[in-house]
Amino acid sequence: MDFSIKYVLGFALVLCIVCSALVSSTAVALKERQDANKELDQRRQVIRVAGLALAGDALPKETVDTLFENIQGRVIDRETGDYLDVPVASVNPIKESKDPAMSASTPSEFKAAQVSRLSNRLQVFEVKTPGKECLVLPIHGKGLWSTMYGYLALKNDLSEVVGITFYAHGETPGLGGEIDNPSWKDQFPGRGVYGADGVGLGVVKASAPRDKDYEVDGLSGATITTKGVDATIKLWLGPAGYGPYLEQFKTQG
Ligand SMILES: Cc1cc2nc3c(=O)[nH]c(=O)nc-3n(C[C@H](O)[C@H](O)[C@H](O)COP(=O)(O)O)c2cc1C
Repeated sequence: MDFSIKYVLGFALVLCIVCSALVSSTAVALKERQDANKELDQRRQVIRVAGLALAGDALPKETVDTLFENIQGRVIDRETGDYLDVPVASVNPIKESKDPAMSASTPSEFKAAQVSRLSNRLQVFEVKTPGKECLVLPIHGKGLWSTMYGYLALKNDLSEVVGITFYAHGETPGLGGEIDNPSWKDQFPGRGVYGADGVGLGVVKASAPRDKDYEVDGLSGATITTKGVDATIKLWLGPAGYGPYLEQFKTQG
């Protein structure tokens, strides 16, 4: 069969239009489900870092929903630490940090975390499960290759760390990627958070002397990644991060 050029081009054009319409309508139709899955995944991370489930537990949606009956997600004003009357799932601090109208540039003393802007609104999760009360704070900062996204859980009285987790990063498996190795993360629970001179919690180079009450050993062969984790902790626990909120929470309970 012989087809004219006009026919072939017309056919290709119609095919392109049909396919793009299909792809975009599928994306729109699935948006709600994708958002729900994202929220479910975030809830699982919060539950794990708060020590309400073990790392290997499957956590089906029903279990997550039950556990979340005792967890309150709140939105706070980063600068004042005040609660904002906004549903937690409607806020995306990472996205908002890219919008100059919804964020501020990171003060220069915290530049080591390589987070250029901080959103004005932040999410926090207040865990009220009896015996497991804690605060879960989303954190992020740059390692060697990538931005590392995670959660830090602190006891309600801010006396010690409950846990830390990194759920997304692009560090090298076996080197910087070990930040998500349970045996490394297990050093964090029980460490102090604030010392006499501000944030005490930190990560120091594996061979360097450290204050065992507050500091954990870095990963050998991945000093840049672990310096990034240290800078990330200092940024988010400091006055430009959750500091104002944590101060209010501690005094008001
Ligand atoms: C292929 C390759 C991947 C690496 N990945 C990382 C990494 O993910 N994180 C990191 O801090 N260093 C990584 N490094 C090592 C750094 O370049 C650097 O040597 C190291 O951070 C120094 O750490 P040390 O003082 O503990 O040896 C990598 C090196 C190579 C060659």
